[in-house]
Amino acid sequence: MERAAVVAGLGGWVPPTVVTNDQLAEVLDTTDEWIRSRTGIRERRWVSPGQSTGDLAVEAARRALSSAGEEAVDAVVLATSSPDRLCPATAPEVAARLGLGAAPAFDVAAVCTGFVYALATGAGMIALGAADSVLVVGADAFSTILAPDDRSTRVIFGDGGGAVVLRAGSPSEPGALTGLNLGSDGTLSDLIEVPAGGSRQRSTGLPAKTEDTYFTMQGQAVYAQAVRRMAESVRETAARTGWSLDEIDSFVLHQANARILTAVARRLSLPPERFLSNIGTRGNTVAASIPLALADTVASGELRPGHKVVLAGFGGGLTWGSVALVWPHLAVHPTELSEFAATSAGPAGSTV
Ligand code: COA
Repeated sequence: MERAAVVAGLGGWVPPTVVTNDQLAEVLDTTDEWIRSRTGIRERRWVSPGQSTGDLAVEAARRALSSAGEEAVDAVVLATSSPDRLCPATAPEVAARLGLGAAPAFDVAAVCTGFVYALATGAGMIALGAADSVLVVGADAFSTILAPDDRSTRVIFGDGGGAVVLRAGSPSEPGALTGLNLGSDGTLSDLIEVPAGGSRQRSTGLPAKTEDTYFTMQGQAVYAQAVRRMAESVRETAARTGWSLDEIDSFVLHQANARILTAVARRLSLPPERFLSNIGTRGNTVAASIPLALADTVASGELRPGHKVVLAGFGGGLTWGSVALVWPHLAVHPTELSEFAATSAGPAGSTV
């Protein structure tokens, strides 16, 4: 019988420190009105001093494992572009902290598409019989790599983690991933980058300029590409799945900007209400964005069992991808509350 990767657990986590638009307007040349009207973001969470991507990943993963009723998995795939260290990958330490023994664990770097790429990787391991269960995590602490004085990036990004447990199952059951579509365009790799810190800069033997150690983005060009590529990818995934666009109940896209979601809906001639969003309180949480949006919209009741749903991501690289599933029955812990809360919070301190 054909094996499918089935979503069997879901969890999200955000750090406790809320950063409002007004707080940012105190230290940057911006306003709450500009941020809300241009992005839809009202507030975001940022890590406390000492807290890292690995901490976000562990918290989200604990919730996903609990949601799945599992204590162990056969492999861990962590999507992140803000790893705890440049080397080694963050995933093995996350796996160790979760008590997952010698399970293979590695990072996938595809910026805001990272979670979809990681899902594809986990699903591939299951299809090959290399694993019967895979923990797929998306986590990023992008607040740590933004230039303190860059209003164009600092207002957009939030920190968080999200995770799903995939298990081997049948293609016909709810939760089975289908219609996967992935793509990239490296000719536009400069649109989203951290210029320094990699081998290209280090091999010059010159010290990195401070401004090159931070994340940069050409916002307008990225915006146009995000709308085009996510719309195309959603169409492709729907076609591969054998669904008409009209019969899809919910779209959970990368939460980059509320206006991007509306523009994709318009491009696909679909009602914008079907494009679920938590961007108002989360901002753009990079690789965590899609699983966090899933956790938040399951909690709010917007995403329900039986919904035909398409997940789509777009990010640096450039990269994009999407996948379809019928949403399964899952017990999901609230993202911000529950007995798991804040167990890895670092010392309190100002993060703005
Ligand atoms: N507050 C106030 N003004 C700001 C600002 C801020 N936080 N950030 C930028 N501006 C200014 C710019 O300096 C510019 O001023 P100018 O006209 O005097 O030069 C003006 O606002 C317009 O900037 P622009 O970049 O054209 O704004 P925009 O409407 O394109 O919105 C983004 C900017 C970043 C919100 C938008 O381009 C975007 O969302 N892009 C995609 C981002 C994304 O998805 N990134 C992740 C990809 S995975």
